[in-house]
This record gives sequence, C-alpha cells and structure tokens, in this order.
Amino acid sequence: MKLLERRSIRLYDQDVKISEKELKEIILETNLAPSSMNMQPWRYVLITSDEAKEKLRPALYGNIKQLETSAAMIVIFNDLHKFELAEKIYDEAVEQGLMPPEVKEKQMTNIKNMVQKADLDKLNISGMIDCGLAAMNLMYVAREHGYDTCPIGGFNHELIHDVVGLDKERYTPVMIVSIGKAAEEGFPSVRLPFDDTAKII
Ligand SMILES: Cc1cc2nc3c(=O)[nH]c(=O)nc-3n(C[C@H](O)[C@H](O)[C@H](O)COP(=O)(O)O)c2cc1C
Repeated sequence: MKLLERRSIRLYDQDVKISEKELKEIILETNLAPSSMNMQPWRYVLITSDEAKEKLRPALYGNIKQLETSAAMIVIFNDLHKFELAEKIYDEAVEQGLMPPEVKEKQMTNIKNMVQKADLDKLNISGMIDCGLAAMNLMYVAREHGYDTCPIGGFNHELIHDVVGLDKERYTPVMIVSIGKAAEEGFPSVRLPFDDTAKII
C-alpha cells in the first residue's frame, strides 16, 4: 500500500460488495487509531443495503455517485458519553497486564472529575480530533484491503440522526466515508508549499 497515493474516489464498481466479515475487520483495524485517554469515542453506522442508502439520500448534499456505487457509506459519530466505557477499557487493560491497577484508579479519578465539570465544548473538540484520526485511519486501512474512499462532509448534520436512529444529544456527526472498489483513478489535487503550512523554529 502506498500511503501517499491515496486520492478521494467518488465512483466505485457496483458489482464489488464488501462482506460483513471484512467490514468488521476494517473497522477493528481502523480503531487502532490513537485517542485521548484511549477513550475511543468513534461510533460508526455502516450503510450497505439499498434500503438504508435510500434513507440516507435526502440527507446528502450532492455526493450521489458515492451513495449509489459504494459498497458502504460509513457515518462516523463522536460519542459524548464516551466515558461510560472507561471502566470497561481500563479493566481490560489491567486484565491483559497492559496497565497497573493503580494507574487505572488514577485515570478513573481524573475521568470522574472531568465528567463532573461536564465541559461539553471541550469534550466535543477532543472527541472530534480523535474521530478525525479514526477517519484518516479508515481511509488508509481501506487501501490496505484494496478499496478506496471519499471523505464526505456534504450532508445535513441535523437530519442524519433520524436516518441512522441515533440520539442527537449524545452523538455528534463527524463525516461520512464512502468505501468501495475504485472505478476511476481520482484526480490529482494541489497542496500548499511548505512555507504556507509550516515553519521550523
Ligand atoms: C472533512 C472533509 C469533507 C469533505 N467533503 C467532501 C464532500 O462532501 N464531497 C466530496 O466529493 N469530497 C469531499 N471531501 C474530499 C476533498 O474534496 C478532498 O479530500 C480534497 O479535494 C483533496 O483531494 P484528495 O482527497 O483526492 O487528496 C472532503 C474532505 C474532507 C477532509
């Protein structure tokens, strides 16, 4: 897989479906992305059936080629209740000998303090950063499996919860990633030069 050769692909071979087994592998590999306190706030809805795709259609701004030809439209959400799974994550880490129990206790105390403060803005920003990393990982993992993707921000963020049946207050939409077997090359796109984006100090 050549990472630097990824391009947004908007047209896929409709005859190539991705099995549920492989989609699950792709998601589990995607989840190897790093996240703040390892809370893994990413949640995905994988839209694969024609029926579910039809429900998604009115929520899209354009992006119809991806909808109609992809093997799946993967909607990524940031879970604002991510800390509910903290104990599960850290217990497992302790069980597997990956984390000393006292570190778990310390982390749980930190989390309880954070939950009490309930700074929704901070929670949302931190989760969106994590989910952005997951989205990028998903695009690379897809290539590793021989597929291509297109990140899609062009959808109605108010309608999307009804389409997928998730709670609006709890889950913040991040983006949709279409995935499938490429049926086009995609087009090269310009990147800004070093000096416009970075400096060495
Ligand atoms: C957050 C985000 C939202 C995007 N939304 C769309 C979209 O709605 N439709 C689309 O065709 N491409 C979308 N793109 C793809 C960009 O247009 C594309 O990444 C950019 O032009 C660079 O091209 P490349 O991905 O081929 O390198 C989006 C990309 C990102 C990161």
